Amino acid sequence: MRIAVVGATGLVGQKILDVLEERNFPVSDLYPVASERSVGKEVAFKGNKYKVISMEDAIQIKPQIAIFSAGGSTSLKWAPEFAKVGTTVVDNSSAWRMDESKKLVVPEINACELTKEDKIIANPNCSTIQMVVALAPLHKKYKIERLVVSTYQSITGTGVKAVQQFEDERAGLDGEKAYPHEIDKNCLPHCDVFTDNGYTKEEMKLVNETRKILKDDSIRVTATAVRVPVVGGHSESVNIEFANDFEVEELKQLLSETDGVIVQDNLDENEYPMPKYSHERDEVFVGRIRRDYSNPNSVNMWVVADNLRKGAATNAVQIAEYLAKHELV
Ligand code: A2P
Repeated sequence: MRIAVVGATGLVGQKILDVLEERNFPVSDLYPVASERSVGKEVAFKGNKYKVISMEDAIQIKPQIAIFSAGGSTSLKWAPEFAKVGTTVVDNSSAWRMDESKKLVVPEINACELTKEDKIIANPNCSTIQMVVALAPLHKKYKIERLVVSTYQSITGTGVKAVQQFEDERAGLDGEKAYPHEIDKNCLPHCDVFTDNGYTKEEMKLVNETRKILKDDSIRVTATAVRVPVVGGHSESVNIEFANDFEVEELKQLLSETDGVIVQDNLDENEYPMPKYSHERDEVFVGRIRRDYSNPNSVNMWVVADNLRKGAATNAVQIAEYLAKHELV
């Protein structure tokens, strides 16, 4: 496969290169793309150095797949240009996710819907991906009516600038700020920008993307997204109300049989998911699974995943793998 990675110098872009390499994706030619200021810089892949090229040059090459992780405005402008020359774009930004003509794909759930006609495929938001991987089998079996989600999101989700701010603060340096407040030794109930309804965009992504992926607009979702000074991954407290009742043990069993999920739930051994240990893992970890005694048919769980991997790079590469395997590009 001739494959372009757009945003190859960014945190997610770098992770995409790592994941392509680790999973031995059949790359015949690699084209790293970034902004004009990075053209000519080198990135490493499979022990070789590759020069960063411009968007225009990458389009001329007509790669079979372009995995984008360079922000929403870049995707809005450039993804259609790649699509025009026949490239299939897997886009990590929020630009196309809620577009009715575009599919929002988590491979374990809905890659089977992809066809050759899908030229721009949206990768969901990191917080949504890890949650729906765990929710999809539960929705099928017990029918979800309402979700109350609180997230504890890693600074890596904001990109290189945020990690730099965190490191500067830790070292007592006064550098550039990615957040409106200090992030070290702090929690910011503020991920992405605020919208007119008082929620942040990140919170509304959890609402809208979850419904789109689970194909059920009747699911009521409310979310609070919080940025925490953590590097390894995102954590989520998820309260789920089902239409039908369940047995906790049966629900745990169902999750433990779910593709991409690892149940870590052994209270005697203090075993539960934590971002430090989800770091560099591709799976979604679920634990603290317990009945919510305050409400009928309800359960609480704690869901953790590496936001740069399953929340972004791994999910995108899994989509590319599906496209390659089923000869859709
Ligand atoms: P660059 O390094 O040249 O700025 P992160 O989210 O970690 O900050 O990474 C964002 C990625 O998106 C980087 O690779 C960045 O390249 C790339 N990028 C930003 N703006 C553009 C653009 N207009 N065209 C292509 N790539 C872009």
